[in-house]
Amino acid sequence: MQVQLHNAAELEKAGLIPGGSLYYPTIFYPPIPMYGPGDEALILDGLDFDSARRTSVYIHIPFCRSKCLYCHWMVNVDCSEEVINDYLDCLEKEITLWKKKFGVEKIQPSSMLIGGGTPTALTPKQTAKLCRILHGGFDFSQCAQIICETEPGTILGDQGLEKLRILKDNGVDRVSLGVQALDDQSLKDMGRRHSARDVMQAMGQARKVDFKSVSIDLIYGYPGCTPEKWQTTLETAVVALDVDAFQLYRLRIVPHGDKAGKVKDRFEKEPGAFPTVDEIYIMKQLGFQVAEQGGLRETSRRFFSKGPVHDSQYLQDHTDRLADVIGFGASSWSNVQGRFYLNTGESLQAYAALIHQGILPINRGKVKTEDDQQRWALTLPLKHNGVSKKQFRETTRKTVNETFPRQIANLSKYGLVVEDESFLKLTDRGIFFADEVITQFYHHDYLPFPRSCYTEGELNPFSYHSK
Ligand SMILES: C[S@@+](CC[C@H](N)C(=O)[O-])C[C@H]1O[C@@H](n2cnc3c(N)ncnc32)[C@H](O)[C@@H]1O
Ligand code: SF4
Repeated sequence: MQVQLHNAAELEKAGLIPGGSLYYPTIFYPPIPMYGPGDEALILDGLDFDSARRTSVYIHIPFCRSKCLYCHWMVNVDCSEEVINDYLDCLEKEITLWKKKFGVEKIQPSSMLIGGGTPTALTPKQTAKLCRILHGGFDFSQCAQIICETEPGTILGDQGLEKLRILKDNGVDRVSLGVQALDDQSLKDMGRRHSARDVMQAMGQARKVDFKSVSIDLIYGYPGCTPEKWQTTLETAVVALDVDAFQLYRLRIVPHGDKAGKVKDRFEKEPGAFPTVDEIYIMKQLGFQVAEQGGLRETSRRFFSKGPVHDSQYLQDHTDRLADVIGFGASSWSNVQGRFYLNTGESLQAYAALIHQGILPINRGKVKTEDDQQRWALTLPLKHNGVSKKQFRETTRKTVNETFPRQIANLSKYGLVVEDESFLKLTDRGIFFADEVITQFYHHDYLPFPRSCYTEGELNPFSYHSK
């Protein structure tokens, strides 16, 4: 397939793209792992929770069948039924503690993501228990969508089908399968416990249960991944798996979660085993082209779908709509009315110990400054579907143009953003380099790499210091 690439060399020379293979995606602003310590009292005291605000809910289930080499999240492998049951009891208590803290009778999520880890690592009985806890803890009458993440090997056979049916009967309407690769060698190398054949069967199981939408996650940039292999993977996803949506993740080597994956060590020891940056750009571009041929469009960054019903409301809520997120479970993150915090991701024991003391299990976070709020209100919508100037004004009481004049002028000059009276958006070129464009708006304390990693050009993200 003929691939048309954007000119990356010009942007590296201007200081936009860090040298080498450095890559850091914006999942949230301020970036998730970069806070100092903080507990419930420090972060939440004084917050008068307004239940009328749009709020998404995230539920973290930190159990998996294996720890993948590239995974930086807090996960626990092959836990006993007792350990998982205790965790579910703690989760229930945490929801109750949270509501008590704010005197709220019910939380009405606008969307929910049950993620992990692997929520479907639970047994059918535990899945039913989780659903009971969720229905006891939340009012779903305003909830547009409930998404559940799965790992293919955990939804096979009769038990797998039973779990999926329980989830569907309890309102889950979209499932996302962590597929990552479609050749057995890569899957083995990643430390996954399922095969490519299992993926086909898992997809069949999800289709039997008739969810509104079934999507998959794939990773490019992994050792052994070539543009040719990646093209075959994408085509298999579109044709043989007939997915409703897929998320195409560029491999993240820099840890962004609570437990650094072994991929970082591997990269340091054996950088030549990984695809080059040029190959990564080809793979990224192939993603756009194969998706388009298969009738999928990129509706949020790295997320391609066949139409709005298949989009992730959870993703769109906390990016485009700037909705709050309340996270429950070990290592989950929350953004509640100007407070940002993380639950402890140290261990299941540390999480349970705080819950048993009647304390919310928060161990890091910050009360956001005006500067944080402005950058948050800009970066997330700009990365995805564009900044509504009205929404930015209502959120920050400032205009986009008076807040970030130099960044907007520079990025426009390089054809990375465009604006009109109502919106500031990424161009096609800006979309391709979205994560690098977004770091232009980071406060320098949060930039992921030191100044020496960027050329001293107009787009060096440190050059905005004196704003
Ligand atoms: C939190 S995981 C949950 C999925 C599920 N546990 C599974 O792996 O089957 C969500 C997705 O994040 C992506 N992901 C996790 N770590 C990554 C990394 N280091 N680089 C790129 N993508 C990653 C994977 O595609 C994964 O499916
Ligand atoms: S990628 Fe998924 S299955 Fe692998 S360790 Fe992370 S959460 Fe678990």
